[in-house]
Amino acid sequence: MKKFLFLSVSALLLAACSSKPKTAEVVEPKLCDAFPDYTIGVALNVNQSNEKDAEGVAIVKQHFNSIVPENCMKCEEIHPEENTYFWDDADRFVKFGEDNNMQIIGHCLIWHSQCAPWFFVDAKGKQVKPEVLKQRMKDHITTVMTRYKGRIAGWDVVNEAILDDGSYRPSPFYQILGEEFIPWAFQCAMEADPDAELYYNDYSMAQPGKRAGVVALVKKLKERGIRIDAVGMQSHMGMDHPSWEEFEASIQAFIGAGVDVQFTEVDMSALPTVNFGANVADTEEYSAELNPYPDALPDSVSAEWNERMTTFLNIVDKYAKNVRRVTAWGVTDADSWKNDWPIKGRTEYPLWFDRKGQMKPFLVERMKKKGLM
Ligand code: G3I
Repeated sequence: MKKFLFLSVSALLLAACSSKPKTAEVVEPKLCDAFPDYTIGVALNVNQSNEKDAEGVAIVKQHFNSIVPENCMKCEEIHPEENTYFWDDADRFVKFGEDNNMQIIGHCLIWHSQCAPWFFVDAKGKQVKPEVLKQRMKDHITTVMTRYKGRIAGWDVVNEAILDDGSYRPSPFYQILGEEFIPWAFQCAMEADPDAELYYNDYSMAQPGKRAGVVALVKKLKERGIRIDAVGMQSHMGMDHPSWEEFEASIQAFIGAGVDVQFTEVDMSALPTVNFGANVADTEEYSAELNPYPDALPDSVSAEWNERMTTFLNIVDKYAKNVRRVTAWGVTDADSWKNDWPIKGRTEYPLWFDRKGQMKPFLVERMKKKGLM
């Protein structure tokens, strides 16, 4: 039923994305029209969801039919103290999506990073007991999901809990509750909004060890009758990763485990790789040779980058019937977290629109092939 509901809403969005206006006015082609099988999303920073970044907002309204908040729904932002919620930015984000008839995704309910410090300690600063943490997780998940019940199509319920070798990240959630914190999070989410899609989301999902760990997690949830609708492959990529063979093997493995896939945080670094993951806590020293294109990307590198992105989309399209969404992790290159990660102060070129707001060639080519340009 849920899949039918989600698909019919997505079908409406996809139709809306390709709706033709009644008048004879000049119609700007929409990027999302070039992706009839799944929604095309983008992560919004608060300047965009609060409509302060006019150029960014114009690109989002013109080209995307799905949005996800880059930061404003994370625990430290939305629930900074045990009895304090900060709703303003999240409310504006959801309203932006509703005002523009977009699919709205929630990110993220349970994550070891950007989790408010109070979450794991008592008044004396001592680590809380398992039952206290379980209650706090339930309160957080239930309060946030209930506020947006029926308005958010799907949630990243748990983010980045499995390491590259398939073991559990030794986060406070794991230290206090063991593996049980994940089924508990999904159980609470299922009860909070039975109609919202529920996802496990992670980076480096082409790593064989992580793939095996996530497949085991999906199977465990399903065996216990706990709903998980899709796995989010964040897809923070580079010019030398992931291996497309391993990437496809992971897509096949997740579909084989009985869930759909979505590509939830797509970006591709054009700079020398110094970190193959996306663990926001990782940092590296700045050096000029690691920031080789401070002013502009050379045509040769740009051509190779666009070719790799075309390969990525061709792989995604091979599995389109089990793909729910492809989301860019930011609007233009200037917005990308990768300008400061893992090295502060680099000039990166990882997204789908350049610093002038121009759509990149791999997408222009696709739109031309679809007869949209
Ligand atoms: O909002 C404050 C601002 O008031 C303050 O002046 C400034 C000072 O540094 O910090 C601002 O908060 C920053 C926030 O982004 C908004 O810009 C945080 O320090 C910074 O840590 C935060 O980084 C985000 C990161 O997650 C950590 O939450 C990135 O924008 C965001 O792209 C990144 O996204 C994550 C996904 O959620 C999960 N998957 C990995 C991905 C990349 O790390």
